[in-house]
Amino acid sequence: MHTKAIYPGTFDPLTNGHLDLIARGAKIVDELVVAILRNSEKGTPLFTVPEREEMIRESTLGLGNVSVATFDGLLVDFARSQGAKAVLRGIRAISDYEYEFQMAMMNRKLDPELETLFMMPAEKYTYVSSRLIKGVFHLGGDVTSLVPPNVVERLKSKVPGKI
Ligand code: PNS
Repeated sequence: MHTKAIYPGTFDPLTNGHLDLIARGAKIVDELVVAILRNSEKGTPLFTVPEREEMIRESTLGLGNVSVATFDGLLVDFARSQGAKAVLRGIRAISDYEYEFQMAMMNRKLDPELETLFMMPAEKYTYVSSRLIKGVFHLGGDVTSLVPPNVVERLKSKVPGKI
């Protein structure tokens, strides 16, 4: 059986925590599609969707069964259109659990055939989030060990004058 999963998110920007999860997910499914939500309700993003797509593509070149796509509308509809059996999500701490549980249950209600798989990133990334990365970078903090090198470069060009 060919197992395909979707790893959805905003990825504004990709972090090493996301990358860690992508690598873990890619080991347990045949095909993993990293899917960027185009119409996120999270406010104005720092990076455009094409920029985020490119950063993820560059960072996952070494993973042959990983591809990158974008979607809007319901995740379950996108998953179905892709023929995916599962959604992959990362859980870093208990605080993530409530939101993730609600989403997983809503997605199950919308499509009982679609399973949600939760995986935990490496301990060293349990506190890393795109929101914190942007905040710290804007204030001149060093995020070089927390995001891939291409993301550091993009951050520098978006927010000139920082590290
Ligand atoms: O990384 P994020 O921003 O927490 O990802 C959230 C995401 C994109 C997985 C979620 O917002 C989503 O799936 N949105 C699509 C709309 C949808 O399907 N909503 C119903 C499920 S609650």
